[in-house]
Amino acid sequence: MTAQGLQLIEKGRVVPSIETVDRLAQATNLDPGWLGFGLSSPGTPQITITPGFDADALIAELLATLKGPTGVIDDVFKYLDPVSAHEWRSMLRQPDFGSLFSAFPMAELMNILGDQIATEQPCDIVGLGCGTAEREITLIKKLRSRQRRDLRLILLDISVSLLGTAVHASDEFSRTHSVPVLALLGDFHALPEYSHLLTGDSPRRRVFTMFGYTFSNLDNEVQFLRRSLAWVDHGDYLILDLPAAATDSSDASEIMRCDPTLSRKRGTDWHSTAFQFLTGPLRRNLDGVMECKVHTELDQSSCVIPGSYAVVNKATVKLRSGMEKRFVVGYSKRYVPEKLAKHMEVEGWRLIERLHYGPQNVGLVVVLQRHDPRPRRGRKPKPETEHPG
Ligand SMILES: C[S@@+](CC[C@H](N)C(=O)[O-])C[C@H]1O[C@@H](n2cnc3c(N)ncnc32)[C@H](O)[C@@H]1O
Repeated sequence: MTAQGLQLIEKGRVVPSIETVDRLAQATNLDPGWLGFGLSSPGTPQITITPGFDADALIAELLATLKGPTGVIDDVFKYLDPVSAHEWRSMLRQPDFGSLFSAFPMAELMNILGDQIATEQPCDIVGLGCGTAEREITLIKKLRSRQRRDLRLILLDISVSLLGTAVHASDEFSRTHSVPVLALLGDFHALPEYSHLLTGDSPRRRVFTMFGYTFSNLDNEVQFLRRSLAWVDHGDYLILDLPAAATDSSDASEIMRCDPTLSRKRGTDWHSTAFQFLTGPLRRNLDGVMECKVHTELDQSSCVIPGSYAVVNKATVKLRSGMEKRFVVGYSKRYVPEKLAKHMEVEGWRLIERLHYGPQNVGLVVVLQRHDPRPRRGRKPKPETEHPG
C-alpha cells in the first residue's frame, strides 16, 4: 500500500478493510484483533497457584531447621522470603553480576532454537525458576518476530514478588501479540504433580529454560532431572544456563587457583552483596544474631555430575545467648562441558549445542533435547546358578 494510504489510516480518516488490517498485522508482527479493534484474544496473563503448594509448610520447615545447631538452607527458603528476593535483585545490579548478565548470548541461542523449531510448530517456553523472566520474555518475543505464531509462555517460580514482576513484564507483550501467558506459583521439585497444567489439547513442543544458574544451585541435579523432568516428551528441549568449571583438573589446589570465587579474584563488593543475600533467612529468622560470617570452600564430594565441583558457602552465626550455629547457605556447582554433556545423554537429554559467554567464558549455555535413553551397555547377566552353601 502507499505511504499516503497508511497515513490516512493512522490519522483515522480512513477505516481499513479487514484484509488490510490482517496484512498490516502480519507485516508488523502484531495481533490483528488488537491492531484493528484494540481487542486481545488471550487477555491478561493467567496466574495459578499450583496444586499442593503450601508456602506456610515450607516456612515451618525453615524455622525447624534454624532451631538446630547446624543445617542446610535450601535455595527455596531464600526466594520465598520477599526481602531475600529483593536482595537477589539488588545483587544483579552489582557491576560484576550485571556484566555477566548482559553478556548472555541471546542472539546465538535464538539462532539455535530458530533452526530447531519449525515455523508451524506450536511451541511453549516454560521458564523453570523464571524469577523476573527477562530472558524468557526476550526469547518468546524473538520467536514471535521469526514468524512463530502458536506460542505460549509458561512461567514457574516460588517467589510471589519475582513472579509478580514477571507477570507485569509479560502483560503488554501478551496483549499485543496474542501470546497466552500462564504464571504458576509453585515448587519445581513437585512439577510432575501439576504437569497437566503444562499440556494443551494438542501436542506442543516445549522448551524448558533454567536461566540464571538455577540448575547449578540444586542440591542434587540428577535427582531433579529424574524426579521433576522425567515426564517430559521426547523431542522437547531443555536450556540450562550454568557456570563453567574454571579447569578440567580434579586437583583441589588447581581448582582453588583457577576458580574466580575460590581464588577471591572477585571484588569484596561482589562477595558482600552475595553474602547479604545468602544469609537473609538466618539474619531475619534467628533471635539475637550478633554476628553472621560466611566463608567459601571447595566441595568435591557433594557433586553428582562427573567432572563438576561445588563452591559451597557456609555461615557461622553467633547469638547473644553465646550459642554458635553453622549452616550451609548455598551451593554453586561448576561444570566441565564435555563431561556434563556425556552425563546428560545418560539421563535422556542429548546435547544439541553449547555456548560460552562472559569474562573468561565463565558462563555456559547448553541446549539439550529429550530422547529415550538407550539401556546401558554392560556385561550379559550370567545365568543363575545355585551357590553352594
Ligand atoms: C538464581 S535465580 C534465577 C532467576 C531467573 N531464572 C534469572 O535468570 O534471572 C533462581 C530462581 O529460581 C526460583 N526457585 C528456586 N527454587 C525454586 C523451586 N523449588 N521452585 C520454583 N522456583 C524456584 C527462585 O525464586 C528464583 O527466581
